[in-house]
Amino acid sequence: MHEHTPGSHSAIHSRRRRTRADSQLPALPYLREVSLRTDAFLPLNEYPFRIPAVKNLQTLRFASDVTFLFGENGTGKSTLLEAIAVALGMNPEGGGRHFNFATRESHSPLWRALKLVRSWSRPRDQYFLRAESHFNVATEIERLDEDPEGGPPIIDAYGGISRHEQSHGESFFALIMHRFRGRGLYLLDEPEAALSPQRQLQLLGRIRQLVHQDSQFIICTHSPILMAYPNARIFVLDQNGYTETAYTNTAHYRLYKNFLDNPEDGIRQAFAPHP
Ligand SMILES: Nc1ncnc2c1ncn2[C@@H]1O[C@H](COP(=O)(O)OP(=O)(O)OP(=O)(O)O)[C@@H](O)[C@H]1O
Ligand SMILES: [Mg+2]
Repeated sequence: MHEHTPGSHSAIHSRRRRTRADSQLPALPYLREVSLRTDAFLPLNEYPFRIPAVKNLQTLRFASDVTFLFGENGTGKSTLLEAIAVALGMNPEGGGRHFNFATRESHSPLWRALKLVRSWSRPRDQYFLRAESHFNVATEIERLDEDPEGGPPIIDAYGGISRHEQSHGESFFALIMHRFRGRGLYLLDEPEAALSPQRQLQLLGRIRQLVHQDSQFIICTHSPILMAYPNARIFVLDQNGYTETAYTNTAHYRLYKNFLDNPEDGIRQAFAPHP
């Protein structure tokens, strides 16, 4: 069994001077590619390296605007997104760059084995949002705002109302309306979890606005509404790795469509005794 060798993390992030070759390339996507480092020895029988989408990670190329990671429960979407967030210097619990209330070491070591290819242009705004830990971020905002030397209250950027005094969906929506400022790199893990279908449509509209303000999104989702974002790249993770797939060819799209076209049939299948 090999242990992976972390190597120099800072080398991956060292800011280079912009070269003549860079100026031929567009500013977006801010995060162009992610792959497994070839100089890393990985314990392939252990989490997270035993996950097929991680083990078989070649080069994942991101769209300049919106990329979706998609697939069944447990196929490794969150593991991969979290590792990308940590490798980018974001807090693994969620939040922007200035949050630092958990240590990187408590999270999967995958981030050390990732090679990121970034644009010469840096995003002005970064945010990693995990629906499941949004409440922790809310608590942290309030704690930071209680510090008298902590500068202007962060809560103002969130619509002025405490996250704890709003519903889950309301606070989540306030976050993306007020905290996301454009020219950003946004990593969202199942943002639909808190949102009604109507709000999911509004989220699509907000994503479009932010894309028009030079933002890039990488989103894990199960939502057939979010995935319909026009011309997005969709990578479906499965037991063999991952495959780029057109929206209407995804299993989720077909399942939702078949179900809504014929709910009785869907219920019959769901209630059928399993072998
Ligand atoms: N800390 C951990 N230690 C060991 N195994 C883990 C750990 N976290 C996740 N796993 C396993 O890794 C696999 C991928 O989990 P992950 O959370 O990345 O899946 P996912 O695609 O995001 O699923 P979902 O759609 O349910 O959110 C699962 O089999 C899960 O049980
Ligand atoms: Mg997940």
